Amino acid sequence: MQYQTITKKNIRVMADRFYSSVLKDDLIADFFIERLGDEMISDEWQDHLNLLTDFWASVTIGDSKYNGTPLTPHIDMPGLSKESFQRWLELFSKTIDRLYEKEAADIFKSKGEMIANNFMKQLKL
Ligand code: HEM
Repeated sequence: MQYQTITKKNIRVMADRFYSSVLKDDLIADFFIERLGDEMISDEWQDHLNLLTDFWASVTIGDSKYNGTPLTPHIDMPGLSKESFQRWLELFSKTIDRLYEKEAADIFKSKGEMIANNFMKQLKL
């Protein structure tokens, strides 16, 4: 069964699924492994998953907990390219479509695309 509405609880499930697929990806896994390791049960990963849950809850349902600067960690990431962002979006979109019904899925996907495009522009990719 797919989620019809977006909640913080199901965003956490989404984050788990998304980053599991990221860690298996030949093109972008290494960016994450370098900074967070390859074990999602580690404290580093759990902190990342909680942070990203807050981030997506702020973007999609107006939750107020996230107050970070999303672009910052991506600035000093050698090797990051347009192709990496395309792959990120592909994996994100696959996870979202599996978990959410269309209306909710469209919100995530359009926000994801907007932010990815904005990052690429600022990173001059
Ligand atoms: C290929 C593309 C991307 C790669 C390789 C990547 C990689 C990473 C990594 C490794 C971190 C953790 C840095 C650390 O804690 O040391 C991070 C943080 C983060 N990423 Fe990405 N990312 C990508 C695209 C995106 C996109 C498109 C979004 C948003 C739609 C996004 C949102 C975030 C946010 C919100 C954080 C946490 C920022 C903070 O510290 O507050 N990332 N990313």
